[in-house]
Amino acid sequence: MSQKQTIILAIESSCDDTSAAVLKNDTVLSNLIAGQAVHSEYGGVVPELASRAHLQNIVPVVDGAIRKAGIKKEDIDAIAFTKGPGLLGSLVVGTSFAKSMALALNIPLIDVNHMYGHVLAHFIDDAGSAKPEFPFLCLTVSGGHTQIVLVKSALDMEIIGTTIDDAAGEAFDKSAKIIGFDYPGGPLIDKHAQLGNKKAFQFAKPRVDGFNYSFSGLKTSILYFIQKAERVNPDFIKDNLDDLCASIQYSIIEVLMKQLVKASDYFGIKHIAIAGGVSANSGLRNRIEEMGNSKGWKTFIPKFEYCTDNAAMIGITARFMFDEGQFTDQTVSAKARVSFTSNGLVK
Ligand code: KG4
Ligand code: ZN
Repeated sequence: MSQKQTIILAIESSCDDTSAAVLKNDTVLSNLIAGQAVHSEYGGVVPELASRAHLQNIVPVVDGAIRKAGIKKEDIDAIAFTKGPGLLGSLVVGTSFAKSMALALNIPLIDVNHMYGHVLAHFIDDAGSAKPEFPFLCLTVSGGHTQIVLVKSALDMEIIGTTIDDAAGEAFDKSAKIIGFDYPGGPLIDKHAQLGNKKAFQFAKPRVDGFNYSFSGLKTSILYFIQKAERVNPDFIKDNLDDLCASIQYSIIEVLMKQLVKASDYFGIKHIAIAGGVSANSGLRNRIEEMGNSKGWKTFIPKFEYCTDNAAMIGITARFMFDEGQFTDQTVSAKARVSFTSNGLVK
């Protein structure tokens, strides 16, 4: 990275969190996130409600991020935004806002791939004590994605494994829904799991080729197991909540770890990072550390605030792109699906 002080305003609105951050080089001056409680009763994110909430949140969130950073709008060198992947209506709000603001301030625009953001969150200066060295592997686990990414350099990544059906976050959220938790249930499973016995119950393990994942079978296995148990004891869930959560969490983590270990062995790479909302899971964080000790890995676990969706990770990605002169223009539009190009550009 160049030595010049570069101030980037970043906007993230790909799903149900409206976030804005200001970065000076790789230092986060502010990182504000407005969540959307409106979805909890529906068992998942309702796209139309999400875009409406983004519209309400975007001005106060961006304004708040600029104020908290203690800068003036005129100090901003570039505006970054999430172009995709995500919910189109949500992405359009952040994209339009970023375009208008860049036009008004007459400064460059940077369109960021959300998935690069999760991985590069590790390079925020206070993300952790050390930075991963290239090439490293990153297990990116979120509500929408499950990927093992071979990170060759900041803007050159390749997905070597991905889910063929549900994402790891969906496995958590859908299991949580079966148990009766509101969306997103992942954090609640985590909370109860800490009090339970992870070996209490066992569920079907997927068999998938290569470094890919599958979680839909696990979810079905959990559903059938609970339905059967409830025929004997209608209060089965209530009576076994902690053990059930611990066992579900353990099953998901073991699936994640199996392919990650396989990938690390295959590529001979021992710098291993985790990223995305599910990397906030305490069981996964512990298991990665444990595996790291036994396999001689150097592991990189992001601070909680950089695990779930946030604009700081979009800002740090934009910082790498800024240095490479990778800007976009006013013809850019949001895209629900973007391909993972090998130069960081969002196509
Ligand atoms: O990265 P993220 O904020 O949004 C997406 O890009 O999808 O990830 C959200 C996902 C949700 O599925 C949520 O349940 C899960 O991350 N999650 C967790 C935990 N915290 C968030 N899952 C398990 N344990 C947690 N502590
Ligand atoms: Zn995400």
